[in-house]
Amino acid sequence: MVSMTESNQEASPKASQSADGRYPAGGLAFPHRDLTGISHLARHEILYLLDEAEQWLVLNRQRHKHAEVLAGLTIINAFFENSTRTLLSFEIAGKRLGADVVNMHAATSSVKKGETLIDTAMTLNAMRADAIVIRHASSGAVQLIADKVDCPVLNAGDGSHEHPTQALLDALTIRHALGLPRQSDLNGLKVTICGDILHSRVARSNILALTALGAVVNVCAPPALMPAEIEAMGVRPFHDFDAALEGAEVVMMLRLQQERMSGQFIPSPREYRHLYGLTLERFGKLPPNVLVMHPGPMNRGIEIDSQVADHPTRSLITRQVESGVAIRMACLDVLTRRTRAVPGWTEMGSALA
Ligand code: CP
Repeated sequence: MVSMTESNQEASPKASQSADGRYPAGGLAFPHRDLTGISHLARHEILYLLDEAEQWLVLNRQRHKHAEVLAGLTIINAFFENSTRTLLSFEIAGKRLGADVVNMHAATSSVKKGETLIDTAMTLNAMRADAIVIRHASSGAVQLIADKVDCPVLNAGDGSHEHPTQALLDALTIRHALGLPRQSDLNGLKVTICGDILHSRVARSNILALTALGAVVNVCAPPALMPAEIEAMGVRPFHDFDAALEGAEVVMMLRLQQERMSGQFIPSPREYRHLYGLTLERFGKLPPNVLVMHPGPMNRGIEIDSQVADHPTRSLITRQVESGVAIRMACLDVLTRRTRAVPGWTEMGSALA
């Protein structure tokens, strides 16, 4: 199923290799200033971030969880939409790497007085942030800000568009749960994603990342919550959850994004649970090696039953949260290497994508 592959096979032929031969050397391993989405990333760039996160998974399990990699840098987490996992893990990630981390909550900011997004972005930029992490309810808002500021911008979720660090942390979690070493992709792994595919930035980023890594992805949703022409993303759409689960090795459940719905998309929560929920009964019919994921926050008793979410060996939900800190440490480290003049990372100049 899952195979080891050569991660440097997509490297630019012009790019010289790193000392260990796996990735293009220095900044060519990740030639982007920002992380606004998975759609901009090549397969080997996704693998590079996963591999960079491995060291932070190890550090985060030590009693002393501190590195001075980002000492002296300022990171601003600007969250215009609620978050628990993403905000906290970016904050912890920045602090564990030694940065000064400041959180801006829209609810207590001048956004409430009518300040525009662009003016807010210019204000953060004038404070000479070294990286800005943004969550916003509007798709495309993060790119808009990235275009206006001078420092790396990381997308912490924008509307229904992308949530790239969620997809990266999910891939890292799967890799670890399957006991796969560095450089491993997910070639041939069968993943079923079920829920509100239409509104889900998690689904979109995961589809992009999983298919880039070679996974075979089924997506399942009620007709009203399935995007038109989803097949173009290289996935197989289903409206029948039991059919979508056939052969699955990993099942990713999604929350109903009520806040992004206008009108009635599902008949009732009870019927939704019956047709599309990972109930204990449905879970019990799956082969015993099938793993369960959920990005959170969960609606227990709707898309997933508590006994499934809390399964001690087959639910990866808390492991996803753990991977989230490591992935965000890797992203902050990699994206600030040019600012920190890390050797080999400063020559890219205007070539940055
Ligand atoms: N998965 C996720 O993005 O969770 P939060 O909304 O709590 O950040």
